[in-house]
Amino acid sequence: MKIYKPAALLVLLLIVFSCKETGKEKKPEKTTSLASQENEDFRPSFHFSPKEHWMNDPNGMFYLNGTYHLFFQYYPEDNVWGPMHWGHATSKDMVTWEEQEIALYPDEKGYIFSGSAVVDHDNTSGFGDGLNTPIVAMFTYHDPKGEEEKRIDYQSQAIAYSLDEGKTWTKYEANPVIENPKLQDFRDPKITWNEDHKQWLMVLSAKDRAYFYSSKNLKDWKKVSEFGENYAAQDGVWECPDFFKMQVEGTNKTKWVLIQSTNPGGYNGGSGTQYFVGDWDGKNFTPEADLYGKNINHPYWLDFGKDNYAGVTWSNIPKEDGRTLFVGWMSNWLYAQEVPTETWRSAMTIARELRLIEENDDYIITSHPVEELEKYVGETITKWKLTDEDHAIVDHNDLDLTKAQVSFLIPKITKDVHFSLISEGDDQFKFGFKKEENEFYIDRSASGITDFGKEFASTVSTGQRISTSDSLQVRMILDNMSVEIFYDDGKTVMTEIFFPKQPYTSLKINEGVPVIDIEAAEFNFD
Ligand code: FRU
Repeated sequence: MKIYKPAALLVLLLIVFSCKETGKEKKPEKTTSLASQENEDFRPSFHFSPKEHWMNDPNGMFYLNGTYHLFFQYYPEDNVWGPMHWGHATSKDMVTWEEQEIALYPDEKGYIFSGSAVVDHDNTSGFGDGLNTPIVAMFTYHDPKGEEEKRIDYQSQAIAYSLDEGKTWTKYEANPVIENPKLQDFRDPKITWNEDHKQWLMVLSAKDRAYFYSSKNLKDWKKVSEFGENYAAQDGVWECPDFFKMQVEGTNKTKWVLIQSTNPGGYNGGSGTQYFVGDWDGKNFTPEADLYGKNINHPYWLDFGKDNYAGVTWSNIPKEDGRTLFVGWMSNWLYAQEVPTETWRSAMTIARELRLIEENDDYIITSHPVEELEKYVGETITKWKLTDEDHAIVDHNDLDLTKAQVSFLIPKITKDVHFSLISEGDDQFKFGFKKEENEFYIDRSASGITDFGKEFASTVSTGQRISTSDSLQVRMILDNMSVEIFYDDGKTVMTEIFFPKQPYTSLKINEGVPVIDIEAAEFNFD
């Protein structure tokens, strides 16, 4: 007879009482198809992916002493979702990452769901020892037993602290710090320091809205308001919010931004992230204008591709830096657990700087790959103009497109623009702009391996283009299994993953569309 040690027994129990969340309840049969085995190569070169096993949301991101910390939802036993831990990775530049020891393990109170971390410089929490600055993380306990028993109050908020810059963590003995208010979906706390009101501010997702809390010490939290009832995208559960102040580019004006992921109910189905710009008076969030209503066909989505979810920003970025730095999970609950990678599953997006601009009486968030990426850019190929016979903007004679950036300009849009990334075996990832409809699209139906999930291959679009310019500026970041397309200086972003049977080797455009200012380069990590 097998004797189980207590720890092993606990893990076993946790697995038995495994969670049944919307969209990720079923642990699919493990399939080891030939395709998936061959394609361990899909692993990105510079987007963070765990060495092994399952990852979803980015968590607890903070910066301290020259290091960016990234924690993430992690299941170290399998390549599908399971009892959640917080994995940990560190980077000096948000581009090259080193995976660290697991930071937080599930325990008798439950799995460790998404959350955030802050650097408590003034030791407001009292967790400091006089020598080391405490880092305080807040996460959701998800109690699988409660869920199994069909209760609804199984998610609560808890804290843990670290006195060694995030390496090891101690869970607070009086957890949870916020009990469940009899609400089934009550999770993903994100804390910021609110300098104007000298208090900690926290936002979490409560089913179909966001709840705001404040605290002086990170332990005692008071709910101050709610936002979002009957507002914006309501076809799914709101998850993973973020709330922070931003300066409007080129002005002294500041605004508060609420980022709010939703699953399902994303703009293009499944998982997606919307945002709201407005004001915060210390108690209530008031969005700029009631533009959202029931109609979700509005431009306020951080990304219109299918694969950027649950993204949040880094805390404790120094004032001198001042950037709002963001990373998202590069997948979608519609098919995340079935994508054809075997040893590892899921990568993060490239770290991005978010900027807030005011244009045509509206506030728009633009996204930009972090400038740190530039230092890995190898020799740049430039072409001033593309001739009409030559529909390849770049191909294998120019560079290896599996880890590259390409940018160019279409000086005047006179007709539909169709791009396609093409492999030797003729797999094609198609994307572009439809002039009449005034919208961007992606069609990955013929992009390679697509049969693992029927939702994967469907075409996506953006709704009305945000920019009103006649010209179109395009920047693409490619990394083995992903493309991140930044149109119009980051006003419209589309991030998607793909699994071609052979790597894409050329980027083509349809006849008669002028292309100028082409710049392309491989990334070099030696
Ligand atoms: C979002 C999410 C969060 C939750 C976590 C569980 O993808 O559903 O709401 O905390 O994943 O892994």
